[in-house]
Amino acid sequence: MPRSGPLVDQFGRVHDDLRLSVTDRCNLRCVYCIPDEDMEFAPREELLSFAELERLARIARSLGVNSVRLTGGEPLVRKGIVDFVGALSSLGFADLSMTTNGTTLASHAPALVANGLVRVNISCDSLRPERFRAIRRRGELDEVLRAMDVAEQAGLAPIKVNVVLLAGVNDDEILDFAAFGRETGRIVRFIEYMPLDAAGHWQRGEVVPGRSVIDKITSRWPLATDPGAQDDPAPAQRYRYLDGKGEIGVISSVTEPFCGTCNRLRLTADGAIRNCLFSDDEHVVRDALRSGGGDEEIAMIFRSAVWGKLPGHGINDPGFLRPRRSMSMIGG
Ligand code: 5AD
Ligand code: SF4
Repeated sequence: MPRSGPLVDQFGRVHDDLRLSVTDRCNLRCVYCIPDEDMEFAPREELLSFAELERLARIARSLGVNSVRLTGGEPLVRKGIVDFVGALSSLGFADLSMTTNGTTLASHAPALVANGLVRVNISCDSLRPERFRAIRRRGELDEVLRAMDVAEQAGLAPIKVNVVLLAGVNDDEILDFAAFGRETGRIVRFIEYMPLDAAGHWQRGEVVPGRSVIDKITSRWPLATDPGAQDDPAPAQRYRYLDGKGEIGVISSVTEPFCGTCNRLRLTADGAIRNCLFSDDEHVVRDALRSGGGDEEIAMIFRSAVWGKLPGHGINDPGFLRPRRSMSMIGG
């Protein structure tokens, strides 16, 4: 394992994209994420403070990380998040973004932009109010659609819309979402349902393969793979409409794993570095932070977390065990 230079895994891939989960809490209970009954969240003192997160971000920056995305749970439920964005922004990342469920984004967007947030991914799994409510169990479609408008006006760009497809639930809206993206210029990203729900209800039969999404859309509005995106490490496979009306993304983590080009690193809200959504291999930094560990010691934890990355997540292997933590705990 190299002791200097950028963060590389054992295959030589540079990892320069960090997801920071700032809380495991959420004001929603999406069916594919958090069970309806009361879920246990990490006790507050286990969550990293903003000062701790900022220190980790600074160390990550010194190790070549140039892109940070804030995730949760729902990042906007954490008090002080707007100021934290400002602190991160002054560390000089090339890209600073957030994944949010959009419920309170409208009121935060201008301040987030003022503090240096560049763009947002907003989750929205249905364009039909009733169904939207059924999937999220809380919150309203209108407030999320309004959040998209406000975010756009505030200057967040591009606006990406995350749609988790569930077979038999919302997969009849694929063309509606495509039309929505074409009309608004927002980048809709269709995400395969992954075995990361806290309740453990995931079943393969509920996964809508990314391939079928592309086939369906392209038979109506022809798509081509984005030639500029060939070496793109982003997990989304990107497609452009041949008539020039924008692009979409498909995230086929289950049916077409992209582990070989993944450059993502994740920090859970309670201070563990994870090199894969689907692996329980965690490298705890919180203890080092709280027992006076130096920057060099923490940098080495980052290095070994990245170095230890496996070639693939194995979710299609017979022996695959679903990770113990759900998406709300790991951060998307
Ligand atoms: N499978 C796929 N996507 C999920 N998300 C949350 N849980 C799951 C799951 N089990 C999505 C959210 C959000 C992003 C952070 O991850 O909808 O868009
Ligand atoms: Fe909250 Fe996101 Fe999980 Fe939905 S998917 S419950 S918005 S953390």
